[in-house]
Amino acid sequence: MATEPIPVGQKTGTGSDTYLARALVDARLATAEEVQACINKQQKLAAAGTPMQLSEVLVRTGVVTASQLKRIANPADDSMSQSLQQIPGFQIMQKIGSGAMASVYKAKQLSLDRIVAVKILPKRLSEDPEFVKRFIAEGRAAAKLNHNNIVQAIDVGEYAGYHYFVMEFVDGRTVYDEMAKQRVYEEKAALDIIIQIAKALQHSHERGFIHRDVKPKNIMLTKDGTAKLADMGLARQANDAAAAEAEKGRAFGTPYYISPEQVRGVPDVDFRADIYSLGATLYHMVTGKVPFEGASPAAIMQKHLKEPLIPPDHLNPRLSTGLAEVVERMMAKDRNKRYASTSDLLTDLERIARGEAPLQAREGFDDKLLENLTTGDEAAEGVGSGYAQNMPGAGKSGVNAGLVAAAIVEGVLIIILLVVLIMK
Ligand SMILES: Nc1ncnc2c1ncn2[C@@H]1O[C@H](COP(=O)(O)OP(=O)(O)OP(=O)(O)O)[C@@H](O)[C@H]1O
Ligand SMILES: [Mg+2]
Repeated sequence: MATEPIPVGQKTGTGSDTYLARALVDARLATAEEVQACINKQQKLAAAGTPMQLSEVLVRTGVVTASQLKRIANPADDSMSQSLQQIPGFQIMQKIGSGAMASVYKAKQLSLDRIVAVKILPKRLSEDPEFVKRFIAEGRAAAKLNHNNIVQAIDVGEYAGYHYFVMEFVDGRTVYDEMAKQRVYEEKAALDIIIQIAKALQHSHERGFIHRDVKPKNIMLTKDGTAKLADMGLARQANDAAAAEAEKGRAFGTPYYISPEQVRGVPDVDFRADIYSLGATLYHMVTGKVPFEGASPAAIMQKHLKEPLIPPDHLNPRLSTGLAEVVERMMAKDRNKRYASTSDLLTDLERIARGEAPLQAREGFDDKLLENLTTGDEAAEGVGSGYAQNMPGAGKSGVNAGLVAAAIVEGVLIIILLVVLIMK
């Protein structure tokens, strides 16, 4: 997942260039700057009357190799596409997307004459019997969940050595797609989506399901404004942190939203991991920045463990105090300091959406965060409204400025009085 919305594609025009540029940066095969430099070059070439495909410029300048490009353009290998055409009971129509782990196809389920989405896992996962067991068990169990804000899991199966996951087809975009268009969400719009996803999580948490991979790419938005959590019931690899690190350099979603306990690899990851990831997602939506950046998955994961969070309203002063408080509670590093249940979280999210103060967010803050704010964090200054001003000590500079201003006014009044007296 890209750190910043990537400012590419608009000028060059073609949608496939935009897609390619994003995919390369996501896969960490190139930096946004390298891709932008190639786009600039492409524009110069076009102006000079020698137009060239972006892919060609990228290869000629040595930013990526031809085989890397091929893999990015079509992560599913050819034998996979061939086999897919024949999954019994389905007519594969077209590829609709691909992530780090799999490709997703639009298909017709012949028995019910309906459109579905089929996610095909790569063979290497199908070769791991432990994974396949979980894949089938979790997929079947998730198919029993039913909620308007969850992308419905329908079935799991295996064909020609590939495991596939059949789900509801969602005609829409992901939150990630929206943010890639350089969109920073307004608080209200972000809350509307996050509340729907919190409802999806509440439903699944109450039934014992933990998602483990809540992130902008897994939130789909339909045209009528419904948000749906995707990949519920899709088995993850056993150890999230190890999986992220092992996939380094490949198209693994960089762990921008992973909870500290998943980084630590605790065996009993619970609903609070989803609350953390949902908080990180909300943070990104309203600030335009991921909570922690780093040059490698390991560096980012380390920050989830240790680095204090920059409060979201330091990055976007328009945010309400309540929202900042709720996000910080969701993203407490110690899961005991997060919300004690997803219903409690939902209550607070709904309160702040109505403009009311959150009930719980003020309890159990990370003391280090408070210290950080009170030690004159530069970002706190110049914040016109919101969290910083309400924190103990954070307004110190404001108090000092107020005293100085009062003294000046007083001085001016005395001088005026003296002048008036002298004139008399
Ligand atoms: N049920 C669905 N209906 C329609 N489109 C879908 C559906 N599920 C996934 N997609 C599309 O396919 C793309 C790939 O999904 P996939 O879950 O494989 O990867 P991802 O979640 O985007 O990223 P990552 O692999 O990094 O987790 C999504 O970004 C989305 O655009
Ligand atoms: Mg997904």
